[in-house]
Amino acid sequence: MVLTVYAVIAASFIYVVYVHISTYLKRRSYSHIASFPIPLTWKWYLGNLYLMRKKGSEMGLEGPSFSFSKVTEALRKELETESYVIFFPGVALVYTVSIPVVSKVFSDHKTFLKQDPRAGRLAYVNGERVFGHNGLLTEAGTDVWYYKRKMMDPAFQKKFLKCLMGDMTNSANKLCQYLEGKKSQNAIDIYGIMNRVALEIVCTCGFSLKDDFIMRETSDLNKATESIFEVLTLSFRSRGGFSFRLPWKFREEKRRLKDACALMRGTMRALLTKRMKKNSEDPESISNDVLDHIIKGNNFSDKISIEDICDDFFVFLVAGMETTAITMSITIWLLLKHPEISEKVVKEVNEVYGEKDELDYEDLNRLVFLEQCIKECLRMHPPAELSSRVSPKHDVTINGLLIPGKSIIMLPTEAIQSLEAHWPDPHIFDPDRFAPGKKIEPFTYFPFTAGPRQCIGKHFAIMEAKVVLAKFYRTFNYYDPYPEKTTLEKKTALTAKPKNGVFIGIEH
Ligand code: HEM
Repeated sequence: MVLTVYAVIAASFIYVVYVHISTYLKRRSYSHIASFPIPLTWKWYLGNLYLMRKKGSEMGLEGPSFSFSKVTEALRKELETESYVIFFPGVALVYTVSIPVVSKVFSDHKTFLKQDPRAGRLAYVNGERVFGHNGLLTEAGTDVWYYKRKMMDPAFQKKFLKCLMGDMTNSANKLCQYLEGKKSQNAIDIYGIMNRVALEIVCTCGFSLKDDFIMRETSDLNKATESIFEVLTLSFRSRGGFSFRLPWKFREEKRRLKDACALMRGTMRALLTKRMKKNSEDPESISNDVLDHIIKGNNFSDKISIEDICDDFFVFLVAGMETTAITMSITIWLLLKHPEISEKVVKEVNEVYGEKDELDYEDLNRLVFLEQCIKECLRMHPPAELSSRVSPKHDVTINGLLIPGKSIIMLPTEAIQSLEAHWPDPHIFDPDRFAPGKKIEPFTYFPFTAGPRQCIGKHFAIMEAKVVLAKFYRTFNYYDPYPEKTTLEKKTALTAKPKNGVFIGIEH
């Protein structure tokens, strides 16, 4: 017993010395880039984590309100630099708003892979396969990613998107029907509803999975996606995931995650089996959804298994649902707070609708100002606040910045899209920044990131937002139930979303 205690103390001592020395050596190798001091106390062990927490609490961002992107950007401004290093136990992060660096890192996807440690934590949670390691969004960038991307790209081309107009319009109509029934409420949370609209659209257009996600407030899949978001957030939040890993903690939440994953994977497996049978019986049949492209482009070779395809069901729900729901809701919020701009949108929508009840795909091209508003919303409030890539094993120099091997490079979307040098008065909502003919400097605006790994669904998302918002502005006159609230509080949990919903009132 005594020996064991000595052994544990000795091992801990050796470990602490090792971490101190390796952090010190790492710090030396970064001496050319601005950085923070590593505190010479036991807290040194945690690198700059302690400093970041301290800065967060100074900014009033503690606990669940902590925002990595806000704190890192505030620290960058304090250091008066474009790029700096943050040390974490065992890993160093290069944070940069340098446009040439961003451009190189996004464009050279074979050198700068996606190996964000967060992706690893999303693959399996408490032993449950959630995103897996081969989902399109999280895969590092090997042949598996290339193969999958090639298979799915055709499903997002304009020719295919045109076929989705009917399904998207149906969901937009259902949204209006739902809101009609809520008219008597003084304040309706549009964000909650938009999540269900986006879920329905991604399930219908992606997998021909038809269910009444909008009118029925609590479908099983609805509940499952909510549980997954909630528990994943918790696993990130609870002290870096540490307390979540303890077997006696969060038992109820872990059970819900298990059930939700079983439901999602079971649903996807059943859809796949049914569709493969249908396609083999009638090879000419076309469903024209993402699933069909996956099946037709794939022979389930050794590269991609059925479970790998199930991973993508999670990817599409997370990447395609929340992001678009956030964008549609915040656009409505911004327009609510800028009535003069909102009037311009309504005028344009009414002109494009004319005497028609429904818009055609071609009409969407005429909703120029509405698209400008959506783009400006994505500039001010990108749902993905920052992206990251991993540098290769050897050192690389980009535009004079030497990046030591195996660093995580943080590319802060929101911060770059708010740089005064490229976006004058960045905190003012001004859709005219995106007026036709205005030139946007490359890599200063990338809500969908850029380069080969940019969002596969970016045209899908803009189309969806235009169809849904055009129908909304065509149907309702709305008012601001809380005019005294002039700032939108957000929380970051995988994506940056409205913290307390987005409320509107509908005129009778
Ligand atoms: C406003 C809405 C959306 C935003 C802001 C958004 C944002 C992003 C971003 C920032 C990435 C890249 C992440 C990175 O490089 O680290 C991404 C990737 C991805 N997005 Fe979206 N997205 C949206 C809508 C959608 C939709 C509607 C779908 C599908 C229907 C989708 C599917 C994907 C997929 C599959 C990837 C991974 C692509 C790859 O790595 O090859 N997204 N998205």
